[in-house]
Amino acid sequence: GLITAEFARLKEITPQEKKEFARNLNTMRDEFNALIAQRKDELEKANLKENMKKEACDVTMFGERTNKGALHPVMETMDRIIEYFLAQNFSIEDGPLIEDDFHNFEALNLPKFHPARDMQDTFFISRNQHDATKNVLLRSHTSSDEAHYMETHEPPIRVLCPGRVYRNEAISARAHCFFHQVEGLYVDKNVSFTDLKQVLLTFAREMFGADTKIRLRPSYFPFTEPSAEMDISCNICGGTGCNFCKHTGWVEILGCGMVDPHDLEACGIDSNVYTGYAFGMGVERIANLKYRVNDLRLFSENDTRFLEEFQSAF
Ligand code: DAH
Repeated sequence: GLITAEFARLKEITPQEKKEFARNLNTMRDEFNALIAQRKDELEKANLKENMKKEACDVTMFGERTNKGALHPVMETMDRIIEYFLAQNFSIEDGPLIEDDFHNFEALNLPKFHPARDMQDTFFISRNQHDATKNVLLRSHTSSDEAHYMETHEPPIRVLCPGRVYRNEAISARAHCFFHQVEGLYVDKNVSFTDLKQVLLTFAREMFGADTKIRLRPSYFPFTEPSAEMDISCNICGGTGCNFCKHTGWVEILGCGMVDPHDLEACGIDSNVYTGYAFGMGVERIANLKYRVNDLRLFSENDTRFLEEFQSAF
């Protein structure tokens, strides 16, 4: 503004002075403009630097470690078992945890006073002194789901029932008062033991590796006839013998057999027309073998040091 005012004075001065006055004013205006531009430039640069400082991040700095969630090893194992049987066309079914006597025992060929009822130490919610069929209990195995499913469905039946079961056991490294089982059931015309053996062999190989061998030992379960227990070649020593397999080369993983005709009839399925196989396995047992956990209690204590070992790697 001052310079513009000086220019206005040009008309007041003599023509002799005018030329020089105007030249000086022009020079002065140019110098000022240059100074202003320079200062503007400086301020913009400073501002930019300031902003960059504010927004800067050191890409080489370690980030803060966050806890990445992961599936519990028992659930991970359960999922893998389920995945295999889904691929074999089994559907997944759920049953109640609180059971009546019929589904947990009676329908599975375990009538009142049958000594094999003691094979599983059951937790009773209410126990009738005079009539065991009125008992209410926590299911001691997922075999009870078989009874539910057979009652309400017509063959062909091909189901897998995973879930939690309860036993009145003292808690130790090898036993717990609750754990998880997966029950499998296939009922149709002409189902044979060969079908059972085939599905279990491929399951064992899928779960423990292609070299895994299986062995079926005759056994006893009230709900199946014939019954067997299945061993797999020890996945730790490969079958040559170690402490884990007690130098036998084999470890037991499940119970199985042909569904007893009594069970089919008790659930309204004609045992003259249909046959079936069933199997049941402990999920913690499978997880033990896969992850070599030697104390069952670790699975339910929620010790984060244990659980963190199963966090998926970055
Ligand atoms: N219910 C048995 C248990 O809890 C496991 C079992 C064995 C299930 C043989 C079956 C079977 O379906 O056929 O020990």
